[in-house]
Amino acid sequence: MKVLITGAGGQLGWELLRSAPSDWQVVGWERSWLDITVEKEVVEKIGALQPQWVINAAAYTAVDRAESQPDEARAVNHGGVVNLSRAVQRVGGKLLHLSTDYVFDGSRGRPWGPEDAVAPLGEYGRSKLAGERAALDLLGENLLLVRTAWLYSSRGHNFVQTMLRLMREGRNLSVVMDQTGSPTWAFHLATALWGLLERDVCGILHWCNAGVASWYDFAVAIQQLALQMGVLSSPVTIHPIPSSAYPTAATRPAFSVLDCTKSWEILASPAPHWQTALASMLQEVAGESRL
Ligand SMILES: NC(=O)c1ccc[n+]([C@@H]2O[C@H](COP(=O)([O-])OP(=O)(O)OC[C@H]3O[C@@H](n4cnc5c(N)ncnc54)[C@H](OP(=O)(O)O)[C@@H]3O)[C@@H](O)[C@H]2O)c1
Repeated sequence: MKVLITGAGGQLGWELLRSAPSDWQVVGWERSWLDITVEKEVVEKIGALQPQWVINAAAYTAVDRAESQPDEARAVNHGGVVNLSRAVQRVGGKLLHLSTDYVFDGSRGRPWGPEDAVAPLGEYGRSKLAGERAALDLLGENLLLVRTAWLYSSRGHNFVQTMLRLMREGRNLSVVMDQTGSPTWAFHLATALWGLLERDVCGILHWCNAGVASWYDFAVAIQQLALQMGVLSSPVTIHPIPSSAYPTAATRPAFSVLDCTKSWEILASPAPHWQTALASMLQEVAGESRL
């Protein structure tokens, strides 16, 4: 099996590379080697490689910046996906494309299923939805679309790394308590994605770590575990605040928990709880800081 990962320099791309099945030929291309917005290069390079699967981990992920750069977000999250879908079509392969909980408006209090009505609140979500629709139109049954949420990893920019940096600086923090989701370790997601490819699954699925939390719950857990593991030496005060007290350029869904039962059933294993995942990720951070 030959698999290409685009956006291999991002947090999910990096986790996919290090968790790849050892008996598959897995190639990771960073943006410097393949910019997915450049159609000619996408078609030529994928045509030369002839992968059976392309995993698109490339994306414009700056949720707030997308409000002032909607064209840039669309160029990658829609235009780039069109280019990849066409290239995959030409080589007769399949595409595993990643999308987001931010395609939902978060206005109801129960988890969002793969077939639920989408209604993104911001430019990032709209650009990701445009990419989803284009890939579905172009690839149909040769597409596996996996939506995930609240990703973090020991590499890259994410909420866990930001909280650890601010906590190390000794700053007291105010963290939003009225947005609810499922924090997801990109390493666990990557492992699940390989499991889905091994089963040759297509369609729309959701995959996140189990359990739900507010950003405030998440921050409290990060601090508690980081103190226990020696990643932090002293605590800061963490205040719960409503979203209205922390205005951001993009409006985020209030309740974006994804219903992942279908993917967990296919994989015959429920995802680990987000607190277990967070502890494992922080173990890595602790190991790296001891090096
Ligand atoms: N992060 C989250 O919380 C989250 C939540 C839900 C869903 N998702 C989805 O999960 C997927 C993976 O996200 P992630 O967190 O791993 O993102 P990430 O860490 O921001 O990585 C995205 C990667 O894509 C690259 N990229 C950007 N534009 C590109 C282009 N034109 N051509 C090729 N590569 C390009 C970036 O390179 P540069 O660094 O050079 O720009 C970066 O290496 C994305 O589809 C994202 O929408 C993420």
